Amino acid sequence: MHIIHLSAECYPAAKAGGLGDVVGSLPKYLNKLGENCEVIIPKYQTSWLDAQEYETIWQSNAPMGFESYNFSILKEKNDVLGFPLYVIDIPGRFDRPGVYIDPWSGKGYWDEFERFVSFQIAALEWIVSRGKNPDIVHCHDHHTGLVPFMMTQCNRYRSLVDVPTIITVHNAEYHGQQDKDRYQLLPAFDINKLGLLDWDGRLNSLAAGLKCAWQISTVSQTYMDELGYQSNGLELLFHQEKAKSRGIINGIDSEVWDPGTDPLLDENFTIRNYKKGKRKNKELLCKEFGLNPELPTFSFIGRLVREKGADLLPDLFTSFMNSDKEVNFVLLGTGDPGLHEIFARMENDHVGYFDATLEYNEKLAHEIYAGSDFILMPSRVEPCGLNQMYAMRYGTVPIVRAVGGLKDSVKDISEAEGYGIRFDEFNLLEAEHAVHRAIDLYSDEKKYWQTVSRIMKLDFSWNRSAEEYIKMYIDLNPKK
Ligand code: GLC
Repeated sequence: MHIIHLSAECYPAAKAGGLGDVVGSLPKYLNKLGENCEVIIPKYQTSWLDAQEYETIWQSNAPMGFESYNFSILKEKNDVLGFPLYVIDIPGRFDRPGVYIDPWSGKGYWDEFERFVSFQIAALEWIVSRGKNPDIVHCHDHHTGLVPFMMTQCNRYRSLVDVPTIITVHNAEYHGQQDKDRYQLLPAFDINKLGLLDWDGRLNSLAAGLKCAWQISTVSQTYMDELGYQSNGLELLFHQEKAKSRGIINGIDSEVWDPGTDPLLDENFTIRNYKKGKRKNKELLCKEFGLNPELPTFSFIGRLVREKGADLLPDLFTSFMNSDKEVNFVLLGTGDPGLHEIFARMENDHVGYFDATLEYNEKLAHEIYAGSDFILMPSRVEPCGLNQMYAMRYGTVPIVRAVGGLKDSVKDISEAEGYGIRFDEFNLLEAEHAVHRAIDLYSDEKKYWQTVSRIMKLDFSWNRSAEEYIKMYIDLNPKK
């Protein structure tokens, strides 16, 4: 089937979080299974995108409100990602380095809505101009949530009305909300249908996508169930649209995330030499940060935001630093400036036990997965979570709050064949208890290494989930 993925992110071209990882890998695995997926993203000024060679496929201009703008569709020439990557060059909108955030000010771009409306319109203009319709248009998150609306309602795109659309929800905390009258930026549609764009009196891109797409999917089954009672205001809508919704857990790109071949690791290892490999990577990591490699080492990698439970970490870390339990904590990520300050201070106060690297650093992330004993994910909300899967592949035991995809992918060590540590409530006491359980596991060497070997053998690759996506495509397009 010919499937077009529309997204704001696609690793390694442009990544801010897990959305990039999924859109950069799922289409590749679908194509290996015989599908014909293409990906369209905006042409940002990222170093990866700047370094590629392109062929110009189409140039045009499109209306947006009372104005019009020029754009070009470029195809990445060498097909390096395992699927054709098309980027839309919209001068004045995307010729900037950040995906959402301006790296100099640390703030979101003022014209985020116009940026993504112009991207969505340009993509549809080109799809229509190609003459032959795709079999599926697959949208990801609110940045592409207006596409299902425009395909079903805008006169200009009438030829696409029979093309099935999917919206995959990677994160329902963000909706792309705007004042209601911003609908004027969209091509003409029957004004009686304005309600499709509306949620709580505002234009809501995600809500519009959920209402108009033929199918909704989320990135784990538990998250799907949670959205009906916790989705930042969209609970009722998720509830109403349940019949056309399904949860499919993400996979990971097991070619990129392979400790046996990972070029970002100085010491590669496999299940055959995992003890030696883990020890060596831990030594390197601890050396880099001046930590004692004999101590159990806990890490956090990710955005330092409320959603990920990053605000629980200072108290959690401090309570262990002030106790008689000796442990190391390593932290990598960026986010809330208030938390940056706290972690920077803690680093000075606890030299030798705590290290915080407050930046985005892909190489260090790989080294931390390989060199840690435990990965901490105390998320308030976690649609799927990929870090626990990366960590397990690299032999690092996950400590997770049992929400969303974390619940679906981590089985507690107290259960038969269990391999991780779970806690239920989001509070310090439960998180502390989980870390204590981890310390106990670490001190039981036999059980600890058994757990490490068990997690390294688990299969979190796309193999299973890609089949589920294919089933979903066939259900929408049974003739194909
Ligand atoms: C978002 C979610 C994360 C998920 C990722 C990919 O970043 O927060 O849980 O794994 O999208 O679907």
